[in-house]
Amino acid sequence: MYNFDEIVDRKNTSSVKYEEMDLKFGRADLTPMWVADMDFRAPEFVIECINNRAEHGIFGYTKRMPEFYEAIKSWLKTRHGVQVEREQLEYGPGVVFLLNMMIRLFTEKGEKVLIQSPVYYPFKNIIEQNHRVLVDNTLVLKGDRYEMDFQDLEEKAKDSQCKMMLLCSPHNPVGRVWSKDELVRVAEICRDNGVLLISDEIHFDLVYKPHVHYSLIGLDKTFDDHVIVCTAPSKTFNIAGLHSSYCVIKNPEKMTAYRNELGLLDLNRSNVFSRELTQSVYENGAAYVDELNAYLQGNILAAQEFMAQNIPQIKVIPMEATYLMWLDCRELNLTISELDDLFVQKAKLALDSGYWFGPSGEGFMRINLACPRKSLIEALEQLKDAIEKK
Ligand SMILES: Cc1ncc(COP(=O)(O)O)c(C=O)c1O
Repeated sequence: MYNFDEIVDRKNTSSVKYEEMDLKFGRADLTPMWVADMDFRAPEFVIECINNRAEHGIFGYTKRMPEFYEAIKSWLKTRHGVQVEREQLEYGPGVVFLLNMMIRLFTEKGEKVLIQSPVYYPFKNIIEQNHRVLVDNTLVLKGDRYEMDFQDLEEKAKDSQCKMMLLCSPHNPVGRVWSKDELVRVAEICRDNGVLLISDEIHFDLVYKPHVHYSLIGLDKTFDDHVIVCTAPSKTFNIAGLHSSYCVIKNPEKMTAYRNELGLLDLNRSNVFSRELTQSVYENGAAYVDELNAYLQGNILAAQEFMAQNIPQIKVIPMEATYLMWLDCRELNLTISELDDLFVQKAKLALDSGYWFGPSGEGFMRINLACPRKSLIEALEQLKDAIEKK
């Protein structure tokens, strides 16, 4: 049994979530419910793994041994039912790094890259900062559920300038776990139109029954040359600070291009702790993830109930995955700056504003629920009080 109720003081630990609020929100005295990491202390086997390696006392040049890749392969097989060969698997320091690399390697400046907004905002930034052209196949909100607009996707993918699509699966922030049918349709449209599909599956372990995550790694052999999957243990085990992620590239030429670039950037070698820990969490962490997901589901339920009883004007988008809840605040009838003012200045909460995720996110807010339940309810109380005083 893990204790997710323990409150750990994260101040003065160089945490982006805690130490960058003044930069982002103009004040530091807020309750941080934004950056997507968790306020839970790591399980004992993680701490032991780091301590054991630290005890050795020598931290020289380090490589990733075959066991590192075996641990990833085994996790993919046992938790996600997909078989990956060693030559199809490669390390990357982060998923955003990997997405950047895929854009740089497999598209040219001026070419078009598809996304589905509202979506994790670095997608937009890396496309535009690499001088590619962003094309938005905006998700459609039907009732309280987001769906893909396949007709629009097909039209946009047909454009000969459109060379890549960044898919978020499961989706941050709208919380959808895409069904097998939806994924097959996206992959077919991409394959048939020469669009390379990059599937960011970083949230793939945090999925709630009855929903099932289907990885694009294993959907259909005909997609193999047209799909790259990027993922990591960092969201699952809260180890983003260790910089460990990986990609699955089944097309050998594309894999060679990626590996060459990794070598050129001198990223072939490994951070000593990230190597040890990636292997350890995948070998020892299955039971932890099951308990974590159960606790997160409890938090989701608690937040849904709190909102329904106390702040019914804000609608919760049902969550099929992730610990990031998407709040529909449009009934409050506030402008973007009034909504920010309500959350930041009045409720003293740091959340991700919906418009950061694209124009389709205007009027929404994203709240990170991965904290002890008591802290979550306190944060929601702050919001309730602020809205009552509005
Ligand atoms: C969809 C998605 N991709 C990537 C990342 C970040 O990945 P990394 O820290 O490995 O760059 C996040 C973090 O919130 C995310 O939600």
